[in-house]
Amino acid sequence: MNKHWWQEVVVYQIYPRSFNDSNGDGIGDLRGIIEKLDYLKLLGIGAIWLSPVYKSPNDDNGYDISDYENIMEEFGTMEDMEFLLAEANKREIKIVMDLVVNHTSDEHPWFIEGKDDPNSPYRDYYIWANPKPDGSAPNELTSAFSGSAWEFDATTNQYYLHQFSKKQPDLNWENEEVRKSIYSMMNFWIDKGIGGFRMDVIDLIGKRPLEGILGNGPQLHEYLQEMNRETFGQHDLLTVGETWGATPAIAKLYSNPERKELSMVFQFEHIGLDQQEGKEKWDLKPLSIKDLKTALVKWQIELGNEGWNSLFWNNHDLPRIVSRWGNDTDYHYESATLLAILLHMMKGTPYIYQGEEIGMTNTPIQSIDEAQDIETLNMYQERIGAGYQVSEVLESINAKGRDNARRPMAWSAQKHGGFTTGEPWLALNPNYSTINVEAALENPQSIFYTYQQLIQLRKDHPIIIWGSFELIPTVEHIFAYYRRYEGKTWLIVTNFSDEEQVFHCQDKVQKIIIQNTTSTIADLQDVTLTPWQAFVVEVEEQ
Ligand code: GLC
Ligand code: CA
Repeated sequence: MNKHWWQEVVVYQIYPRSFNDSNGDGIGDLRGIIEKLDYLKLLGIGAIWLSPVYKSPNDDNGYDISDYENIMEEFGTMEDMEFLLAEANKREIKIVMDLVVNHTSDEHPWFIEGKDDPNSPYRDYYIWANPKPDGSAPNELTSAFSGSAWEFDATTNQYYLHQFSKKQPDLNWENEEVRKSIYSMMNFWIDKGIGGFRMDVIDLIGKRPLEGILGNGPQLHEYLQEMNRETFGQHDLLTVGETWGATPAIAKLYSNPERKELSMVFQFEHIGLDQQEGKEKWDLKPLSIKDLKTALVKWQIELGNEGWNSLFWNNHDLPRIVSRWGNDTDYHYESATLLAILLHMMKGTPYIYQGEEIGMTNTPIQSIDEAQDIETLNMYQERIGAGYQVSEVLESINAKGRDNARRPMAWSAQKHGGFTTGEPWLALNPNYSTINVEAALENPQSIFYTYQQLIQLRKDHPIIIWGSFELIPTVEHIFAYYRRYEGKTWLIVTNFSDEEQVFHCQDKVQKIIIQNTTSTIADLQDVTLTPWQAFVVEVEEQ
């Protein structure tokens, strides 16, 4: 496998609406991001994945795009975007754009033109189908945001497909003109000097809805190979596909370099572990550490040279990891740093979601009026309608709702966490007075410095990038593994629990690489690990 820059960097995801507001309107913006580039440089990241900044009516906060080649007004202008690219590139930070091409907004001119006119060339840009004889939807497919995936249009007496909200009609990838239009838009951005694309729900573009196929459709990989040839294939860009439900075998189809598709995918196997089998993410169950080990280790081992892992705990759709699988009350620092060390020492490209580096937590709500996200709001209506108790639905929302990740970034203890001088579009977590960037930077023992150190270690030690991976069988709550490269062995040991755990091995410690306690770790014969203790040591070759 040829080596690529995107295997060596750490990527930082920005959700622009919630990152930093430069003009006091309560909404984060591009100038706000530029103001914080030095902070990101200090953290040490090499690329930013920018959630969508394109023109959008914001039914799904920018994942409903009405113009791919213009910037959302609240975020700024194309000039601001170019300035951001220039300023980021100056600091050796690449900008990875979010590519949302499974669907557009219903306010995109393509949809508007085709909607009322079945003869328009744009009609076939989307997926229209006749009602059943009784007038009902063509089939039973449901939207990821609750209800039918089909919306009736009275003017033309047909239904259109929307796998997400009804303001996000699905594009028809079988239409060559659709594909050409998208490739030309991608090249428009490549020509501006971007570093790559994160591809939103890309596993859905090969859909055949009338045959009941949504994910992993028959021509999906053909389209991606064509996209690669027509757009980024000539440039060394980072391309990462969002692929819910990918197995290692499927991931290899996307990321085996010989197939010329994508750099890597986001797989979600570990992310589904705290949900009841066969149910929805809202149907909670406790995480089993055993399952977590199995899932993560499988991906470390099975991709081999036919793919590359992306490593993440968080994104804008997921709850905050320290609240989810750590302990955000009694062991906030310890568990947040353990999660960081455990993930960043694995093989693959790590992604940090804004605020993760200071241990931002979930924000429980008392009533649905405090929620903003469309997925949450729709689910609430659906479940209350189906007879669920309010308290039980709120419990699910507080554990899994997307607003948890989308609360504005806390920069300081000032009003609204210094995020805005106005009224924030979504309230901050009230704990911003203690969990904020300024406090983190002032405290040499903060979570921030663990992330900074992990990123620096990756720059200094190729073993982290290229080393082999081997799990060490131990008791359930200890997650321990080796990395080996060019005659060096690193041992990673983490206690994934609120209790002490005992770890044994025969290795001789040569030096401590990183840890989240001040323990001396000399002898590994019999180590009592404190709750959430994590360390990495170099050991003597055996
Ligand atoms: C992806 C995005 C999510 C969005 C959905 C529809 O899952 O990450 O935020 O709502 O696609 O675009
Ligand atoms: Ca603003």
